[in-house]
Amino acid sequence: MKKEMLLAVLGLTVSIDCYIEQYSVDQEIAPILAHHADEIQEQLENIHRGTKKHGVWQFDWLPGYYVKYGLARIAGMEKIQRTIERCNLTALTVADKRVFPLKRQGKKLSNKNCAIVIETVQATSNPALLTLDEVTQLCTIMHETGYISMTGPMAKSGPNYIRIEDGRLCLIDTESTFDHSLLLKGFLRFIITHDFNQDVTQEALKHIFEEIKRSLRKKPAKTSWALKMIKQSLARQSGTPTWDYHRYIERFCNQLKENQ
Ligand SMILES: Nc1ncnc2c1ncn2[C@@H]1O[C@H](COP(=O)(O)OP(=O)(O)O)[C@@H](O)[C@H]1O
Ligand SMILES: [Mg+2]
Repeated sequence: MKKEMLLAVLGLTVSIDCYIEQYSVDQEIAPILAHHADEIQEQLENIHRGTKKHGVWQFDWLPGYYVKYGLARIAGMEKIQRTIERCNLTALTVADKRVFPLKRQGKKLSNKNCAIVIETVQATSNPALLTLDEVTQLCTIMHETGYISMTGPMAKSGPNYIRIEDGRLCLIDTESTFDHSLLLKGFLRFIITHDFNQDVTQEALKHIFEEIKRSLRKKPAKTSWALKMIKQSLARQSGTPTWDYHRYIERFCNQLKENQ
């Protein structure tokens, strides 16, 4: 890993040239961003100071794009992109993120003076449930990188992947915690933020439950917490079940209790 990238992962300032060269925004939008630099700067500083929390914006003057806070999003994108290539995850892609430096502070670039710019990812007009293969590939990203924010449409701040026109899933939120020791939390987050009828096939959901079981084998002390989260995920479901997941989950939970 390049030294600058390592620094970005650590959330430190990075060499400005590295990003400008590799991740500069398209020429058509650079002047627009420059024109609104003060407004962007203010938003970034609000997040940096902790006055505001949500560092994701859409501006009327920049339709078709999202502007976000956090250089870590670039490092996260790189990690995910490398994994997609290395593991040949053909069902997945990652949103292309660019960097717009607001003002130069010597040779340093930081979260305060640098906006992340992303084109709006268009969702397909043919939505489909996540298949077993797709969920397996999403889990590969989690296992390989420690990414724990594979959240779905029921997440409070929106889903972290979007199915695009060619059928692939595009990962849009790359500013997650990447920590292998928290994978159980990641799998539980997955079930809490997905509709078992509308978002995932039966096989795909069962795969996630198997991941939960495997994670708990390594950390049996977390079983009560996992059971609580599983109950919560069930309580969040509405509509008529398309298959008997209540029975499946009841058996699953009983097994977990026995293994405890
Ligand atoms: N590039 C994008 N294209 C389409 N929608 C996006 C894009 N980036 C963000 N969004 C929307 O905004 C929501 C929040 O963005 P996200 O990057 O996930 O930040 P966070 O989860 O930290 O709030 C997403 O769930 C999605 O609905
Ligand atoms: Mg998100």
